[in-house]
Amino acid sequence: MTDFIPPYPKRHEKRLGPIDTLIHARRDLLSIWPEAAFNKQFMSIKIINRSIFVVNHPNIIRHVFITNHANYEKKSILMRKALEPLLGDGLFISDGATWAKHRELETPLFSTEQVAKYSQVMIDTTEERVKQWSSFKSDSTIPVLSEMGQLTAEIICRTLFGNQLGAAQAAQVIKSFADYQAVIEQMDINSFLGMPSWLPGLKWGSSKANKAAKVIHDIVDNVIVEAEKNINSSTLLAQFLKFQSNVVTSTTLTRQQIRNELIVLFMAGHETTANTMAWAWYLISQCPEVEQRLHAEVDSVLGNRSATFSDFHLLTYTRSILEETMRLYPPVPILSREAKADDVIRKRHVPAGSIMVAVPWLLHRHKQYWDKPDHFIPERFLHDGTESKQDRLTYIPFSIGPRVCIGKYFGTVEMTLCLAILARHFRLRVPEGQQVTHECRLTLRPKNNLPMQITMR
Ligand code: HEM
Repeated sequence: MTDFIPPYPKRHEKRLGPIDTLIHARRDLLSIWPEAAFNKQFMSIKIINRSIFVVNHPNIIRHVFITNHANYEKKSILMRKALEPLLGDGLFISDGATWAKHRELETPLFSTEQVAKYSQVMIDTTEERVKQWSSFKSDSTIPVLSEMGQLTAEIICRTLFGNQLGAAQAAQVIKSFADYQAVIEQMDINSFLGMPSWLPGLKWGSSKANKAAKVIHDIVDNVIVEAEKNINSSTLLAQFLKFQSNVVTSTTLTRQQIRNELIVLFMAGHETTANTMAWAWYLISQCPEVEQRLHAEVDSVLGNRSATFSDFHLLTYTRSILEETMRLYPPVPILSREAKADDVIRKRHVPAGSIMVAVPWLLHRHKQYWDKPDHFIPERFLHDGTESKQDRLTYIPFSIGPRVCIGKYFGTVEMTLCLAILARHFRLRVPEGQQVTHECRLTLRPKNNLPMQITMR
């Protein structure tokens, strides 16, 4: 087991006041927390008449995200406003009956059997990257975050559209997404906590975003029209086309709704996995004993061949590295919901309109729930057959309850296979003297693209 404590931002001795909290949150959402927050179970802050409750205990998370989910299903108004031009009524931001219908239709598309089919795309795309990396000179420096970003964007693109989206169009979609995201990320992060939009810095740069959204809509609309003529049954798009009808019923979707859902899956389906793999490469590089154990597993499971879906179940240590990585650096470090009606939690009144935030960043490093909370110890996710005493709601990188990430299994299989295939061939090192730090906007990622030196094993 390692003694490695990866870097994390300074924790304040005392709680910051409301204005200081806003100022810090604008720069970095991870920098607002006092040391005590890693020991508290339920906290509240009042900012400009809006109550924000931080839910930091498994039982309260269960109440908000599972048992009383109906009262807390809405995402913040500004989150919806920011994403609506791109996603319309897509899964990520819809709620009520629309969300429930779409979620029910889509859940079977992410079953174990389906993911087993998509896994060949994951494997083939990673093997192409192996070829590319093999042509690099030993010790050359590569931007690991964008390498992982390109890999996962290609995987989700091919899973959704197969070859129907040509390379040039795929590149255009990826670029327009980056443009859209850049505009959203300029919005103040506070807006995602439900702060009023008249606060300085919260202006929404809609024309640039609308332009990027239109490019994506047009390309995906065309791909759908082409796919209707020439169905490639192995793609996710082909599965969606089975729901299509001109008459809207409980089991059908319009062409525009299908387009929205495809865009949601593209958006939600690549950055989080890329961030996790980039952090994992960094953590592995700092711990020789973890790297050795990873290599031993990859060599014994894969030997001299590429991976197959069935290897996923054998790559338990590889998977535990990724699980521990998401504990320390949860790709979505904060989940926020709005209370529809008044409620009472732990004898405290929660008025309608309150913002409830579950913060994986705090929960995953909570002193009452984790032993050595800031250490990197993948072994804690190796289940030895004895029942764990730990409440499963102390670990929620994919959220929890009815709105749990629909791509949880897809993403876990993808990251495990990609990491194993790459680690069979390569080792990555942080150049001497280079500091690694984080950037926290909508997702938590390594800053400056994480340059690392590559060598063949
Ligand atoms: C490391 C990988 C991933 C992480 C950590 C992650 C995390 C999350 C989280 C935390 C949410 C809930 C957000 C909220 O409640 O506010 C979510 C929702 C979602 N994720 Fe993921 N995700 C990952 C990969 C994926 C992949 C690969 C896909 C698609 C192939 C995907 C598709 C979605 C969708 C569609 C939703 C919205 C579900 C709904 O509202 O019903 N995610 N994800």
